[in-house]
Amino acid sequence: MWKGRDVISIRDFKKEDIEHVLKTAERLERELKDEGALKYAGGKILATLFFEPSTRTRLSFESAMHRLGGSVIGFSEASSTSVKKGESLRDTIKTVEQYSDVIVIRHPEEGAARLAAEVADIPVINAGDGSNQHPTQTLLDLYTIKRTFGRIDGLKIGLLGDLKYGRTVHSLSEALTHYDVELYLISPELLRMPKHIVEELRDKGVKIYETSDLESVIPELDVLYATRIQKERFPDEQEYLKVKGSYVITLDLLKNAKESLKIMHPLPRVDEIHPSVDASKHAIYFRQVFSGVPVRMALLGLTLGVVE
Ligand code: NCD
Repeated sequence: MWKGRDVISIRDFKKEDIEHVLKTAERLERELKDEGALKYAGGKILATLFFEPSTRTRLSFESAMHRLGGSVIGFSEASSTSVKKGESLRDTIKTVEQYSDVIVIRHPEEGAARLAAEVADIPVINAGDGSNQHPTQTLLDLYTIKRTFGRIDGLKIGLLGDLKYGRTVHSLSEALTHYDVELYLISPELLRMPKHIVEELRDKGVKIYETSDLESVIPELDVLYATRIQKERFPDEQEYLKVKGSYVITLDLLKNAKESLKIMHPLPRVDEIHPSVDASKHAIYFRQVFSGVPVRMALLGLTLGVVE
């Protein structure tokens, strides 16, 4: 049952739920191409509450809602709202739900989206809570992989960079436990994937290799998913400086890669991928950006109960 459902953590999704979102996104992408604007969400209002910076996540949710024929209200900076006057998240949510049919929230605190979902009677979608989860990014990542390779099973996938604080790789690796993949966790020692996640992946039978040496594993990979070092999550700037610029993907580095290797990145990038890589056959991170629209259309349509 999708209508009224919250989207908080990828762990709440069974494989069939994930597959249903991907299938629905594919259908909506096709309909959009054939028919132009759709009307499924006519009269419905999405509220986007962004307590942290965002470009793609917010704009693609807004674009998705407009493409479904609905409308959007919201804020992209909490400093312009009553939060600045000391209003609690709880009261903000109780207020916003009087004005809207679905809420998308991004917040620096882990668990904020879960709290919002407990307070609200309308569906709440997590657009990132601290370094915890980013389930909608994961669904668009899986969509991109599936559209590119025609499958997810059988791939060797490298997750690179900030595996400690990066919420995108936390959600993505957990989702990949539903598929038959091998995972290469590539990070500086300081930024390794949290132990509890590695254990969970192993328990679920995923083959995992942990390393800090990107060059040595590059020839193995089908997908290299790069991430930004999450500077804003470090308790101590000195620690950040130790790992800043740890990996830079260059054309030279890619000489030993498979012809078919695809590079992904949730973006924004800082210096992880040299811009000269953008024009290569390996780069699919802007195609990945596009996937945000159909996937978020599917999530909005399903949780609003206007598509099946
Ligand atoms: C990511 C995020 O916000 O977690 N961005 C995104 O949503 N595409 C990654 C990041 O900020 O590095």
